[in-house]
Amino acid sequence: MEIVIVPDPAAAGELIAAAITDLLTDKPEALLGVATGSTPLPIYQSLAARVADGRLDASRARICQLDEYVGLPAGHPESYRSVVLREVVEPLGLTEDSFLGPDGNAEDIAAAAIAYDRALAEAGGVDLQILGIGTDGHIGFNEPCSSLSSRTRIKTLTRQTRVDNARFFDSIDQVPHHVITQGIGTILEARHLVLLATGEAKAEAVALAVEGPLAAVVPASALQLHQHATVVVDEAAASKLKLAGYFRDTYAAKPAWQGL
Ligand code: F6R
Repeated sequence: MEIVIVPDPAAAGELIAAAITDLLTDKPEALLGVATGSTPLPIYQSLAARVADGRLDASRARICQLDEYVGLPAGHPESYRSVVLREVVEPLGLTEDSFLGPDGNAEDIAAAAIAYDRALAEAGGVDLQILGIGTDGHIGFNEPCSSLSSRTRIKTLTRQTRVDNARFFDSIDQVPHHVITQGIGTILEARHLVLLATGEAKAEAVALAVEGPLAAVVPASALQLHQHATVVVDEAAASKLKLAGYFRDTYAAKPAWQGL
């Protein structure tokens, strides 16, 4: 696992967008897995700016969702499908044809989750998956004690996650209790995992995930099992890392040709 400490969220966005630009240059039809929430927005803004000024041709890219609320009406502005279309697909000049996501309104949610796992495999697998991290250490919506080999399925959000996400709704009562999320086993199948964490509120979860033991109680610690996992943190989110000095030295001495 590589840990990269950057000054601020804007620098993180530039760094990860540059890595995605390299990926799409090598593989224009790459499947890019995207997280929602506030943290990855600087990445999406940098990608959109690169498309606008011609540094990035994303016209053949494919985009897939990490997770989705269950039961929000189709077209609800806070459904993750709507968010990804608004924040990623449209700004990159893509259409829904390039987009894959689970159906949070399916009559048979269990079947919809299995179908999404199959669709990802049939699409050739995710090339680069962007992840955020919850204050409780979740990735996707794999809450603490999710199986480390779990597949895409329905999960129940913790009260803390519903409190954290209430800012996107008029009140916490409107935050759904249930989600479909890629499982940890599913996430680990992506070829490159890039987790971004910014802000002091994420510092403890980051330290546990990176320097703590592999444990289902900290789902993000599953990145320790992956052969190509990159954790990008700003100074605030890095503030509880005991090995921060080592991580800084390692990145400073990294040959430029290696990329992320
Ligand atoms: C969202 C997702 C979640 C978020 C996490 C952090 O698709 O999978 O794991 O990444 O809850 O959310 P923010 O970035 O809003 O702090």
